[in-house]
Amino acid sequence: MLYDQFADFPRQKLHKSVVLDFDQYNLNKIESDETIRLKQPYWLKPHCYRHLHPKSRLEYNLSKKVDSSEQIVLWCVEVSTNNERGFTMMIKVTVNGIEVEVQNDTRIIHAAKKAGFKIPSLCYVQDIPATASCGVCMVEANGQLVRACSTACVNGMKITTHSKKLMDLRYSALQLVLMNHPNNCPECVRNGNCELQSLAQQLGMRQLPVSSMPRPHSEIDESSQALIMDPRYCILCGRCVHVCNEIQGVHALTKSNRGFESLIGPAFERKLEESECVKCGQCSAYCPVAAIYEKDATAAVWDAIDDPETVVVVQEAPAVRVALGEEFGLEPGTNVVGEMYTALRMLGFDYIFDTNFGADLTILEEAMEFATILTKNPEKLPLITSCCPSWVDYLEKFYDDLIPNFSTAKSPHQMVGTMVKTFWAKKMNLAPEKIFLVSIMPCTAKKYEIERMEDMYASGCKDVDVTITTREFARMLKKRGIDLVGLPKGVADDPLGQYTGAGTIFGATGGVMEAAIRTAYYYVTGEDMPNPNVEFVRGHKAIKTGELEVAGTKLRIAVASGLANVKELLDRVRKAKNEGTETPYHFIEVMACRGGCVGGGGQPYLSLNVIRDKRAKGLYKEDGELQLKHSHHNPSIKKLYEEFLEKPNSKLAHKLLHTSYIARPVKYSSKD
Ligand code: SF4
Ligand code: SF4
Ligand code: SF4
Ligand code: FES
Repeated sequence: MLYDQFADFPRQKLHKSVVLDFDQYNLNKIESDETIRLKQPYWLKPHCYRHLHPKSRLEYNLSKKVDSSEQIVLWCVEVSTNNERGFTMMIKVTVNGIEVEVQNDTRIIHAAKKAGFKIPSLCYVQDIPATASCGVCMVEANGQLVRACSTACVNGMKITTHSKKLMDLRYSALQLVLMNHPNNCPECVRNGNCELQSLAQQLGMRQLPVSSMPRPHSEIDESSQALIMDPRYCILCGRCVHVCNEIQGVHALTKSNRGFESLIGPAFERKLEESECVKCGQCSAYCPVAAIYEKDATAAVWDAIDDPETVVVVQEAPAVRVALGEEFGLEPGTNVVGEMYTALRMLGFDYIFDTNFGADLTILEEAMEFATILTKNPEKLPLITSCCPSWVDYLEKFYDDLIPNFSTAKSPHQMVGTMVKTFWAKKMNLAPEKIFLVSIMPCTAKKYEIERMEDMYASGCKDVDVTITTREFARMLKKRGIDLVGLPKGVADDPLGQYTGAGTIFGATGGVMEAAIRTAYYYVTGEDMPNPNVEFVRGHKAIKTGELEVAGTKLRIAVASGLANVKELLDRVRKAKNEGTETPYHFIEVMACRGGCVGGGGQPYLSLNVIRDKRAKGLYKEDGELQLKHSHHNPSIKKLYEEFLEKPNSKLAHKLLHTSYIARPVKYSSKD
């Protein structure tokens, strides 16, 4: 809904910063789930449209020197609602003569879809606010040219979507983008999976623009262990900036300069590695072109497979099995674990293990850590989970005072790595250096994690040699002509391939917590939970809290996903610690990506809300179907402790399966 009455809201004199006080401007009647969009001068930070809580005060920092007498104008351009309360009502609009009923805040692009017309878009993608920068979605609404991605319907609106004039306009908008683009599709990493390429196909582009005006751009940035930024390809859609700043709350990316000179990247011309970036890869998952992408490690995997002297072992994360099928046309959430094992054998891997086994092992160590602190040193709580490397990186950069609260248990794939190169290597009479271990992850940050600390070489050599994402794995399969659909279901190898339901739900937000609670309950009470389903930690809500009684103690639990949501939780914990008051939570799970690893930065492109939900359901379905639901019931894990590790948190387990953390402050923050 457009609120013209706020057209000149508010004018403020600038001194050090600008503060918007919503109460002052009568915006407090807006409901808490609604979105307020503010237009503002480009040099104000943060630049992009913001999701705001209407009761919040919004403080802008100035990124240029401003005369204190200078005035700026910020104005509220839109308030939209996601819920059934407040301003929601149904209206009717006509799209190319077809009448449809939609909610009053519906964008034209969605109303047209309801009427059966797909309006092309390039900068806009569902789930994040429109930046309205490319112009390919132009339509006529009540005789006016408007952008369908950012314009809300009003009652009685008459919309034309595909007249000759509009088609020509779109074609010209696309030509403008292509004039600034390398247009070298065959050698591009996104060839065949590029939104710009698809749009050119959709609009019937058969000839590239004759003249080209390459924008000035910075060098390709390969400094990060996880990602590559190639500014030549950037179409300035702004999606990555929104995702990094608003959804992840990391503020590693910004738009500098204006118009033709615009550039996307870390502020102060820093490399990604020097910036706040925590390598979650969400920017790469939302980038429509090849301007940000994961560092491809498939060449090393091919080399290992083709070397007859090397024993090539592979493990796959829980979230991969419910997303990989999408690359082969299957519904999100389809569990292709059996087909995946078969495909891995066809690719040439010698042994196939499963990261879900590692998840069970992580739980035994982490739940023991929690149970020990709870029963012996409760003043040291909360314990915070640590299996997400982006989250670890975030903590080390921004909350290092909470390092003592971090679980020291390694993540599941690192645990599998160490066990393969110690326990299993010994069993097989193999030298660890002869083993090449590949992990297939939904995650770009795991590429960093495998070299994060010396602890990742606990076996005496690199525990996990190479990590590839779900996307890289799909590319490998396609290269070898392996179609996942219709393959017979295979099985993983013993002993590091067996897993329980607790291991598989690790891939969804709340899953680590639920799995840990199942085993911590057992450690504290000596009995299994009568009902292992911990419903309040499930679902895609950004922050989930609840209480659970264990042996007479009411445990306060918190689960958060999407790093921007973490600050609120951590600030509460930090405050209690500093003031010496009781901790607000006993046990906290954090996953950097929204929805947990099912929405990881290395999953098939565009993990929209609806897709992440389906993937999570796929994992909970498997948990429901598996007979064993508690990590401590995994027979292979029991055997591992009997034969090798002795018991959870033993001296050897600590040496091989635990890690440590250090403060890694960012030198120049773009928030400064
Ligand atoms: S990887 Fe994550 S933190 Fe780094 S720039 Fe991308 S979105 Fe931001
Ligand atoms: S890097 Fe990608 S997502 Fe970011 S502005 Fe450029 S094209 Fe868009
Ligand atoms: S939530 Fe999962 S996919 Fe995302 S950064 Fe963390 S471990 Fe990686
Ligand atoms: S998709 Fe609407 S302006 Fe780009």
